[in-house]
Amino acid sequence: MVANAARGLKALFSSTLGIKVLMALTGLGMVGFLVTHVSGNALALTGNPEHINAYAKKLKDLGPLLWVARGGLIAMFLAHLVLAFKLSARNAAARPVGYHFNSAVEASWTSRHMIYTGVVILLFVLVHLAHYTLGLWGASGAAFKTAFDNHDVYRMVVLEFSNPAIAGLYVVAMAAMLLHIWHGFGSLWRSLGASHPKLQEGAQKLSMALAVLLFLGFCAVPSAVLFKLIK
Ligand code: HEM
Repeated sequence: MVANAARGLKALFSSTLGIKVLMALTGLGMVGFLVTHVSGNALALTGNPEHINAYAKKLKDLGPLLWVARGGLIAMFLAHLVLAFKLSARNAAARPVGYHFNSAVEASWTSRHMIYTGVVILLFVLVHLAHYTLGLWGASGAAFKTAFDNHDVYRMVVLEFSNPAIAGLYVVAMAAMLLHIWHGFGSLWRSLGASHPKLQEGAQKLSMALAVLLFLGFCAVPSAVLFKLIK
């Protein structure tokens, strides 16, 4: 039975359709995380440090449960990444001599650049984790270190986003995320079997709205700090 399950998984991971379905499911899971994360960030916009700090403490106090959630997120992220490169290599191998016509007529700019916007997001996540989760660096130096050691999330973001270069870096990364989700969320439904033109049309509108809302939501904290709306 275990051998059968392993064979089934292997077949799923190696068929193009299976890869697309798994990418759709992991992408959907990560969008769920982003919606939760952006809602948590919004607590900083009240300007009262206690709001977001109490939320961050509650999450930390989850202990082992938090690690289960982190494990799931890491697994989804890695699977999505490995499958994206596998699919990209497979697509490249299927057309080794290049196109004889301009395929760009069919594919949108965002769909042709999913791998690049994805790489920007990967780099962003690595920098972001080193920044706020691991506290390995902070542009505001000793003040950031103190805030990090006290798990004063509010002070951490206010100190860092007061620096226009840091706020700008985050906004640029969020622009890559906007493009990635715009195309990814719109097309994942087709991978999951919803290919009716009416459903496709709805999915396109929904993905645009979601991508723009997430972009604005994530840019809100860096912008509010930079323009001194919160301090
Ligand atoms: C510009 C908007 C963002 C801000 C202000 C922000 C802020 C933060 C902060 C302060 C933490 C640490 C929380 C804590 O230690 O309690 C954190 C953790 C994290 N953020 Fe963000 N974030 C932003 C965007 C993003 C995006 C777009 C992603 C994913 C693509 C992301 C992924 C993560 C992850 C994976 C963690 C670690 C969660 C954990 O510790 O389990 N963040 N973020």
